[in-house]
Amino acid sequence: MSEQNSTNSYILAGIDDGFADTKLVTQDRKVRVASCARAGHDGLSAVNASDEVIGASYETAGRHFTVGDFIHGEETRFDDFPTSDLNRVVVHHALRLAGLSGQRVKIASGLPLDMFFKGSVRNEAVIRAKQEALLKRVNVAHTGETAQIIEHVVLPEGVASWFDFAFDDDGNQLVLDGPCGVIDIGGKTTDCVTILPGHHIDHMRSGTGNMGVLDVYEQVSAHMRTQFGEGQVSRRVLDRAVRTGTIKRFGREHSVQAAVTTSLDDISERVLREAKRHFGSGADLDVILFVGGGAALMTKLTSYFPNARVQPEPEFANARGMYKYLKLNG
Ligand SMILES: Nc1ncnc2c1ncn2[C@@H]1O[C@H](COP(=O)(O)OP(=O)(O)OP(=O)(O)O)[C@@H](O)[C@H]1O
Ligand SMILES: [Mg+2]
Repeated sequence: MSEQNSTNSYILAGIDDGFADTKLVTQDRKVRVASCARAGHDGLSAVNASDEVIGASYETAGRHFTVGDFIHGEETRFDDFPTSDLNRVVVHHALRLAGLSGQRVKIASGLPLDMFFKGSVRNEAVIRAKQEALLKRVNVAHTGETAQIIEHVVLPEGVASWFDFAFDDDGNQLVLDGPCGVIDIGGKTTDCVTILPGHHIDHMRSGTGNMGVLDVYEQVSAHMRTQFGEGQVSRRVLDRAVRTGTIKRFGREHSVQAAVTTSLDDISERVLREAKRHFGSGADLDVILFVGGGAALMTKLTSYFPNARVQPEPEFANARGMYKYLKLNG
């Protein structure tokens, strides 16, 4: 269906364009890039030509942006981020990093649950706004081409991870006779979703909470300011700090593990309260899928739910589900 050898061929790409990172999955590629851009030309140059695509400048809607996780990007934690110019250039950057420059692509992207739905009905105005936002043209400021998005479907984020769980790579569905929970711990948001047999979302037990790994970043960078007199800290440094408990200063490693652990415990407590608010004890759920980058970091959370299951590479679960959705739905 997708990678045909004809002039009308196209590639399918699931793109989970989150507030912290943009994750892209195709049949044979996987890319993660920080959702990090700032207005203006880059002021960066590549050491050699092959490095060019790692950070890049783009033009869209008459404005220029620089994308790359080493820059001090603009704050993404505003509600309109999913339909913004900033989001669009990051998505195109991910498509280029996946080697899809100049290719025709059909994509699926996401919206947090409480933006996708208004109560229990689809919020068509927001979904359409998101759909149209990513179809707008983006140009590479210097040399190179962007991908051509020929179709764009928008899916609710946590539900995409359920899709990934419920369908295998050949599109066969698991036999699921009980309700299933998903907790997607992202950067800005934590989505809890309850899915009943027959593919119905139980909206009374689903919703989006405003908490995630970017709150941990904030606390850890506050610690770095007091401890080391750091100014603004880039996403790349914070990502490494939360994963390894270390930062590099003047070329030497320093531990920030205590600050990371305290902050992770603190935010995990908030995530747990959110999960309990929606799932209760979770005893009636066959499984609670833990996904999103936060699921890889807040590992203690699973001990509260005997039916917890951390999905493999949880940060890619939504993007994998989006790709499978495209594959099954054309
Ligand atoms: N495998 C991993 N191990 C440890 N930490 C990870 C891993 N993957 C991602 N993270 C961390 O988790 C953070 C949040 O990741 P994620 O991709 O789920 O956020 P997001 O989807 O962009 O946010 P949101 O869902 O709120 O829009 C990342 O910024 C990163 O620091
Ligand atoms: Mg997410």
